[in-house]
Amino acid sequence: MGTTWKRVVLSLGGGVLLADKEGRMFKGYAEAIKSINNELELFVIVTGGGEYARNYISMARNCGLNEKKQDMMGIAITRVNALLLSFMLEWNEKVPESYEDAVRIARKTSRLVCGGMKPGQSTDKVAADLAAMLDADIVLNATRIEGLYDRHPSQPGARLLSEATYSQMREILVGEEQSPGKYALFDLKAIDLLESKGIPLVIFDGRKVENFVRVMHNQPVGTIVKP
Ligand code: UTP
Repeated sequence: MGTTWKRVVLSLGGGVLLADKEGRMFKGYAEAIKSINNELELFVIVTGGGEYARNYISMARNCGLNEKKQDMMGIAITRVNALLLSFMLEWNEKVPESYEDAVRIARKTSRLVCGGMKPGQSTDKVAADLAAMLDADIVLNATRIEGLYDRHPSQPGARLLSEATYSQMREILVGEEQSPGKYALFDLKAIDLLESKGIPLVIFDGRKVENFVRVMHNQPVGTIVKP
């Protein structure tokens, strides 16, 4: 069975990639991506920085660096993750450092792995930006939670939603922290952009690589968020 989505942007959380420090998640994703790669017209992967980014951000903060520079440390780490995954896939040999370069490579080769782009946002926003620039069908967010809950999952009675709208998602996430190393479930600016462009988003537990393959075949996993 072919994949449902053909023009895909995957926001692959650092928390997922670094869930195993021996590289098993990188290997698992590289294999899964190779197994479906031929079916896709466009495949862009944006890697997060996870715990390593947060460690460097906190060191930078302790060293007295401002938020912009803390973000720049975070971005550097997201790019290290991108380089490792890209080498494994034998895609781009360099990680682009601007949207312009990212779009140029993606248009030319239809395959790209990149990390962060500029201070003041998370890699989820990069994924949304590139999805809008490259006319993606879908953004997939591989993260460390099963999907979107109707309230903070630590609250009693929290229920996992299989479907939601962007306005519901915004209401649920409003008030959550958005600062270096601390973007809650999803970057709020990315929600606004995806909604305005009419691009759906699937949030799923990326710690199980098989979930990624299921999402690609439109099997019910996590939460689908629609405009
Ligand atoms: P992530 O996007 O990985 O942050 O980028 P996150 O959402 O906190 O973490 P995970 O990966 O989902 O666990 C790491 C940090 O790098 C900076 C931000 O400080 C972000 O928190 N960053 C990233 C930017 O400033 N700009 C970008 O375009 C991307």
